[in-house]
Amino acid sequence: MIASISHIIAPHGGELADLIATPERIAELKAHSREWPSWDLTPRQICDLELLISGGFSPLRGFMTPADYEGVCHNMRLSSGVLWPMPITLDVKEDFAKSLTPGSSKVALRDAEGVMLAVLHVEAVWQPDRKAEAQSVFGTTSAVHPGVDYLLNKGNSWYVGGRLEGVQAPSHYDFRTLRLTPAELRAEFARLGWRRVVAFQTRNPMHRAHVELTFRAAKQVEANLLIHPSVGMTKPGDVDYFTRVRCYQLLLSKFPAGSVKLSMLPLAMRMGGPREAIWHALIRKNHGVTHFIVGRDHAGPGKDSDGKNFYGPYDAQELFKKHEADIGVTMVPFNMMVYLEDQDQYVPDNEVTNGSRVLNISGTELRDRLNEGRDIPNWFTYPEVVQELRRSYPPRHKQGVTIFFTGLSGSGKSTIANVLVTKFLEAGGRPVTLLDGDLVRKHLSSELGFSKEHRDINIRRIGYVASEITKNGGIAICAPIAPYDATRKAVRGMIEPVGGFILVHIATTVETCEQRDRKGLYAKARAGILKEFTGISDPYEEPKDAEVVIDTAELSPEEAAQEIILHLEREGFIGVNGQSA
Ligand code: ADX
Repeated sequence: MIASISHIIAPHGGELADLIATPERIAELKAHSREWPSWDLTPRQICDLELLISGGFSPLRGFMTPADYEGVCHNMRLSSGVLWPMPITLDVKEDFAKSLTPGSSKVALRDAEGVMLAVLHVEAVWQPDRKAEAQSVFGTTSAVHPGVDYLLNKGNSWYVGGRLEGVQAPSHYDFRTLRLTPAELRAEFARLGWRRVVAFQTRNPMHRAHVELTFRAAKQVEANLLIHPSVGMTKPGDVDYFTRVRCYQLLLSKFPAGSVKLSMLPLAMRMGGPREAIWHALIRKNHGVTHFIVGRDHAGPGKDSDGKNFYGPYDAQELFKKHEADIGVTMVPFNMMVYLEDQDQYVPDNEVTNGSRVLNISGTELRDRLNEGRDIPNWFTYPEVVQELRRSYPPRHKQGVTIFFTGLSGSGKSTIANVLVTKFLEAGGRPVTLLDGDLVRKHLSSELGFSKEHRDINIRRIGYVASEITKNGGIAICAPIAPYDATRKAVRGMIEPVGGFILVHIATTVETCEQRDRKGLYAKARAGILKEFTGISDPYEEPKDAEVVIDTAELSPEEAAQEIILHLEREGFIGVNGQSA
């Protein structure tokens, strides 16, 4: 590792400055930090801070103040006139913002463990118009756009701007040899004698199309190749970066020896398409890169709620071209790479002659094939990559799954859930955990009552435990009443990203439940002894999104369990010969 280098002159003119303070100054900052308010950085802010203090966001010297922010939003320029397309702001809660005094406050910026990473000299505090920001930066205010969703729904509503003094870079314990700072990458290129370097940005695993694309790019501009994946937050639902980096490592041998370098960029992407392409290139310039690949739909956020793309597939190339001189990095544009079956090779789609058969597998199709354990052909990717992806994304019958029952008290949830547990144990394979309503109230939520607020907390706790079980490949069977639709949906949202979620509505009517009244609870509720009793004196919102609906008036518990098992088989969560794993 190279010690902090404060000023390095870029090969193409610009000056790179990291923001790490001198050891003496760091000691001084630490000694005073107790006097200052602290802000615990969010994961996204940690990514931004890392690139700010390493010089990856040079020429920025801190989080933006209103003059830079407005200039960037409206004209893609800092107040100095320098091209910069993306606001880099520190968003905080209103109370915190109001406790600060611009011009005199200092804030200790801390990571999740409380370690001080930097000191912010507060120069401005303001409440931005985030909708206007979304419109000018992303061209839309639709929350279907992940960058807009973050801005409007996940970020805080006040901004604090000012100069930063870096204390230490955020800690990383993974892939340590692959996390080169701008200064380190520049030094590495200088050591290797690489005068022309073309960078490839990616947030996806690389397959044959990408190897071909990067190989062609390097050849075309006679440059060495930097594979520079973003490993901060990327688009929700992307393949996790641990898996991706293992895949990239496997591919290095496909390139001519000594021609390629792999390094991870701790960038939190915004999926801002054209503006993001320019931003990506400026960041790479700070890392010593001279050329940058922009392919089809660079940093594309996907489709809007009408199924239309937010940006055209080559908008990023067009905007880049307009500003290329200012960016100071040469674009290497590429059309969509497609596979030509007859010739067994990848070519840009504008080089395909009429009548040739082209093949392609989309990201969604690849995910479906992994889920279903289907073949992934060699023309698409490499066997070693498939193997790595299958390890992280096993077919559904090896993934975790949550079976989440909802229904009135006495509807038969627990009985059916218990039958299901027994069936899974009989089949063997994945570990099974039962989170029955009564059990949970005893072990996880004994202090809670039955108000809407407490019921929601209870269900969210169940959801959290079930999501952990599911993430680790187990089967979680939950059987609470779960009367509120929004809370059930929130639980679904916690679990679906990590495995299967099957909502089972036990649709026994309140009349039948009351007639049976196994525990005598309905009688107590009618007598007013039990308050807030679902179905009698408290609401039950019938689900419209249940995967399985069971009427216990018609089915025995065993038949009901069988219905659920059939659903799991149809969806692939149980293997063909009945095993649960
Ligand atoms: S991105 O969000 O980082 O742009 P991705 O990792 O899929 O997503 O793409 C990285 C770069 O490769 C982008 O410049 C993108 O345009 C380009 N790219 C990806 N797939 C193709 C393809 N099949 N043809 C051409 N360019 C592609």
